[in-house]
Amino acid sequence: MKKSSQQTWGGRFAAGPAEIVKQFTESVSFDWRLYPHDIAGSIAHAKGLAKIGVLTKAEAAKIARRLRTIRPQPNPALEDVHMNVEAALGPVGRKLHTGRSRNDQVATDIRLWLRDNIGCQLSAISDLQRALVALADKNADVVMPGYTHLQRAQPVLFAHHALAYVEMLARDAMRFADCAKRANVSPLGSGAIAGSTLRLAREFVAKELGFDGVTQNSMDAVSDRDFVVEFLAVAAICGMHLSRLAEDLVLWSSAEFGFVRIGDAYTTGSSLMPQKKNPDIAELVRGKTGRLYGNLVAVLTMLKGLPMTYNRDMQEDKEPLFDTADTIGASLRVMADMLRHTKVNRSRCEAAASDPLLLATDLADFLVKRGIPFRQAHHAVGALVAASEKGGVSLPKLAAKKYGAGAAKVFNLQCALAVRKAIGAPSPKNVRAQIARWTKFLK
Ligand code: ARG
Repeated sequence: MKKSSQQTWGGRFAAGPAEIVKQFTESVSFDWRLYPHDIAGSIAHAKGLAKIGVLTKAEAAKIARRLRTIRPQPNPALEDVHMNVEAALGPVGRKLHTGRSRNDQVATDIRLWLRDNIGCQLSAISDLQRALVALADKNADVVMPGYTHLQRAQPVLFAHHALAYVEMLARDAMRFADCAKRANVSPLGSGAIAGSTLRLAREFVAKELGFDGVTQNSMDAVSDRDFVVEFLAVAAICGMHLSRLAEDLVLWSSAEFGFVRIGDAYTTGSSLMPQKKNPDIAELVRGKTGRLYGNLVAVLTMLKGLPMTYNRDMQEDKEPLFDTADTIGASLRVMADMLRHTKVNRSRCEAAASDPLLLATDLADFLVKRGIPFRQAHHAVGALVAASEKGGVSLPKLAAKKYGAGAAKVFNLQCALAVRKAIGAPSPKNVRAQIARWTKFLK
């Protein structure tokens, strides 16, 4: 091996890294995505150096110009995106790395990247919310059974069920936005670990990059990746929500339920069974949740017990981060598209909801209004349900016989929904108000 070819840190080495080491340590094959943010960070850093007289204004301008015009191809021999950019800059860049380390540089790049990416996730979330609200609006008066334990429980409106996901996604959006707030702080100027002997214009540089402020402890700034963990956790929660929506669609599109029909373009066939139309898109969204959880655990585990401050282990933050961002983004978008091509089968929903047993609780409430304690009423209705099952006589008929004609009226589905007027309950009036609220909010 000849004298080190590593131009950035090769000075103290008699030989360059072995080929196998280069392959093992390189990150440019996946951190190249940070390129635009690395360029932006370097331009801001050059301006900051000019501000304190380390570079002349002309030198800084020349560096910035070159940073904007170079179009390098990623070269794994140069390890990572930072060194690739530096190498592409050529001689004009010799002074650029003053007062800077790759440790504060990579922390800066990831924060900038994350801020941009969260913007994309937020718009994908709103778009999925819009698709859900549109489906709710189109089917505003469709009644369906609500389920607990996957057993028919009580009647609800289809729109109420769809809007439940809109609420979940709204909290996911808040969590993403909150994560962006904490991530949007500039580590630049923290150097490798202990800042710099130069009086860097940290706040000026931060402002140039649109950061809300600067980190206050150089060791914290180069060593923590809690903002990555937070993003992965938020995405995992969002993925968990999507997996439940996906599962509903898988169930509802089955012959057994038949509540929805997913458009052909959003389903796939079987290579063996000609009749099959499978909800693969929903299944994949459900399945991809596994890797969202995995990425979170991977980064938490990578960081656990690391000695302060930067350790090379931390290079392992990027692939899980990018994978999660791509996975959650794609899942949100495909779900929105699929819902725009999904039709609700009113008659199947309503047939399932027409089972009078779904209103057994309403009959108990009816007895409560007559002064019977709820526990006692619950018991009495339970006995009536058992008698109905045993004797093959419908519950409304038995109720009328036992408690008078008024009791049978309880089983009118429309009335049963209309009286569910408390905040958050699915009366048609409430649900229409919620559709209107979300439509306005998501405009
Ligand atoms: N590629 C590295 C990473 O992603 C950049 C920082 C390298 N710093 C170092 N001291 N080797 O973590």
